[in-house]
Amino acid sequence: MDALMPNYRRYPVRMVRGQGMYLYDEAERDYLDFTSGIGVTALGHAHPAVTAALSEQAGRLVHCSNLYEIPVQEAVAERLSLLFGGGRAFFCNSGAEANEAALKLARRYQYRRGQPERTEWVALEGGFHGRTFGALSVTPRPAYQEGFVPLVPGARIIDPADPAALDAVGPRTAAVLIEVIQGEGGVRPLDPAFVRALADKARAEGALLMVDEVQTGMGRTGRFFAYEHYGLAPDVVTLAKALANGVPAGAVVARPDVAEAFAPGTHGSTFGGNPLAMAAAQVVIDTVSAPEFLQRVERMGTLLRERLEAVASRVPGGAAVRGRGLMWGLRPHTAGLAEKIVAAALQERLLLTAVGDQTVRFLPPLIVTPSDIETAMERLDRALAKVEG
Ligand SMILES: Cc1ncc(COP(=O)(O)O)c(C=O)c1O
Repeated sequence: MDALMPNYRRYPVRMVRGQGMYLYDEAERDYLDFTSGIGVTALGHAHPAVTAALSEQAGRLVHCSNLYEIPVQEAVAERLSLLFGGGRAFFCNSGAEANEAALKLARRYQYRRGQPERTEWVALEGGFHGRTFGALSVTPRPAYQEGFVPLVPGARIIDPADPAALDAVGPRTAAVLIEVIQGEGGVRPLDPAFVRALADKARAEGALLMVDEVQTGMGRTGRFFAYEHYGLAPDVVTLAKALANGVPAGAVVARPDVAEAFAPGTHGSTFGGNPLAMAAAQVVIDTVSAPEFLQRVERMGTLLRERLEAVASRVPGGAAVRGRGLMWGLRPHTAGLAEKIVAAALQERLLLTAVGDQTVRFLPPLIVTPSDIETAMERLDRALAKVEG
């Protein structure tokens, strides 16, 4: 399509409709969606409660700007505050914007407490935080950064496999920004000992600990925030993707004294926290934060892991399985296979993505059932047979 910029490499399927676990193309062919639109449609497509909330809100008030108090935005903030353990929220429209706001918040917080020299952000090799200039500066991927320099000064990138890397956190650090499971980096859970040491170092040095939960949050890993698995108490957390099940929305939640740094006029977003997105977010948060829902994510996650481990032996050359909850990566030992498996799976009408260092990623909607997992594995099996052939 020549009227669109060529920045996306798209598969030649034309999606027009979604229902539950499935997307449908123009010819009404069904595709079992194990991508959730890259971790977005956690409650599946056209979820009745989300659709009802959106329809009702669309007829009532779509937008009024942050010039005024917005009750539904406050309701969502209260829920996030409670889940975070006491915090205040800022709303925006995407993951990159949430991280951008968090990066700014960290500098502003340090500035306000009399430490303006703390301008650095420490982030990790393998991390992904978005495509805006600030977020891109802490996303160490040559392919994404090439041709866009100069980036924002102040990013210090460290290797999570190197214990000496913690020395980068010091008197010039405003904040440390991590994903506890690196999603775009290949579904790579960080080593808990490294995370603990990094969190301790940040605290000892007076730097903020910020966790990017854009992909891992909203119940994806079996806890509302993935950092809970690591026993962390971050100062700042960012969310987006599944927050409003597909209506663009992002959020930063911060400890109240950190949040204070965003005094009136310091930061903003025209659309951020608009009533339509917030109406959807309220339903998603209430649904996915319920303990029974999260326990079910754990159970389905265990089932998916077991089935993937069985399938791994049928990948030519074998494969490793890693992840948590309903976020899994299948990493073939043979280079160059991940893209081929994803393409073959598409032929079998199973939607997957290839990420990071050649990993096939599985991010089904959190409403996935055992029978959906069976169907996915049947389609994956047929796809693998073709890759072998
Ligand atoms: C962990 C993480 N942070 C940030 C982003 C950027 O989000 P967005 O594409 O909404 O800007 C992504 C997107 O994949 C992500 O996975």
